[in-house]
Amino acid sequence: MKNAALFIAIALAFTSLTAFTFSGSNEYIGSKSCKACHSNAKMGGTAYKTWEKGPHAKAFKTLQTAEADKIAKEKGFSTKAAETDNCLSCHVTGMMEKGAKFDKKFDKTEGVGCEACHGAASAYAKKHAKDVEGAKKLGLETPKDKDAEKLCLTCHNEKSPTYKKFDFAKQLKQIDHSK
Ligand code: HEC
Ligand code: HEC
Ligand code: HEC
Ligand code: HEC
Repeated sequence: MKNAALFIAIALAFTSLTAFTFSGSNEYIGSKSCKACHSNAKMGGTAYKTWEKGPHAKAFKTLQTAEADKIAKEKGFSTKAAETDNCLSCHVTGMMEKGAKFDKKFDKTEGVGCEACHGAASAYAKKHAKDVEGAKKLGLETPKDKDAEKLCLTCHNEKSPTYKKFDFAKQLKQIDHSK
């Protein structure tokens, strides 16, 4: 148990140095900015459609339920879940990152959107379609294997009031949108 906690602490420290500070001066522009190209198998693939039907796209709406408000109250918060920073930090793109910048287009009701895992996109959104390698310098990330697992564990951990044991291989399959 101690080891698990230590592992998560290390994972959190590591990820906070990578995923959540990498955005630099980039702004979060919102998942709708990815929709046009990533809904089309002939362009960027159908990731948007898969994400839209998956669990992450409803993460904010989950906070607007009576169940969520009850959890927030039990945790000692006096605000509704959807207005509580602690809850928003894992249920909405970018909210965990200190100093994050959000474009006017950004809409927090998207929940955990593309940029929560692929990096704030203001610099790369229009530029990566032809040059993925170049876009990595502009903040585009596609975490694989251990890096992807560390990313998941920034939210899927015991700080979540409803934490369920996280099974990386299985849960990555559940959100697979790589086609
Ligand atoms: C103008 C169309 C367009 C827009 C807008 C767009 N993408 Fe893409 N994206 C593409 C295309 C095309 C590829 C495939 C490039 C390739 O494989 O050479 C791609 C590839 C990717 C990849 C895979 C990178 C890799 O490692 O292979 C990711 C991740 C990605 N896009 C994320 C996003 C996100 C997040 C947004 C919204 C902020 C977005 N894209 C908006 C066209 C677009
Ligand atoms: C920014 C925080 C965040 C990150 C990073 C994140 N998730 Fe989630 N994930 C959530 C939240 C919040 C929910 C609950 C959504 C709901 O039910 O409204 C969730 C739900 C899920 C679910 C649905 C099953 C369940 O546990 O409720 C799967 C599967 C999942 N995530 C997989 C992943 C994988 C795989 C990764 C890493 C590649 C990942 N997540 C990264 C926040 C995150
Ligand atoms: C919870 C984290 C998470 C979210 C949210 C997410 N992705 Fe991903 N995405 C990943 C991971 C991790 C991979 C690599 C998967 C693998 O290696 O199997 C990936 C892979 C991809 C790829 C394929 C890259 C390749 O190597 O072919 C594209 C394109 C992509 N994502 C686009 C998007 C878009 C667009 C959205 C929003 C509509 C989005 N992703 C939302 C984590 C996420
Ligand atoms: C450390 C990240 C994190 C924080 C902080 C967090 N959540 Fe979550 N939440 C998650 C994840 C990940 C899930 C998916 C289930 C799990 O916990 O494994 C989730 C799922 C949920 C669910 C759905 C439960 C279910 O069984 O499907 C509710 C409701 C919820 N959270 C409410 C809240 C409320 C209210 C707060 C604030 C008091 C909060 N969460 C804070 C990460 C977090």
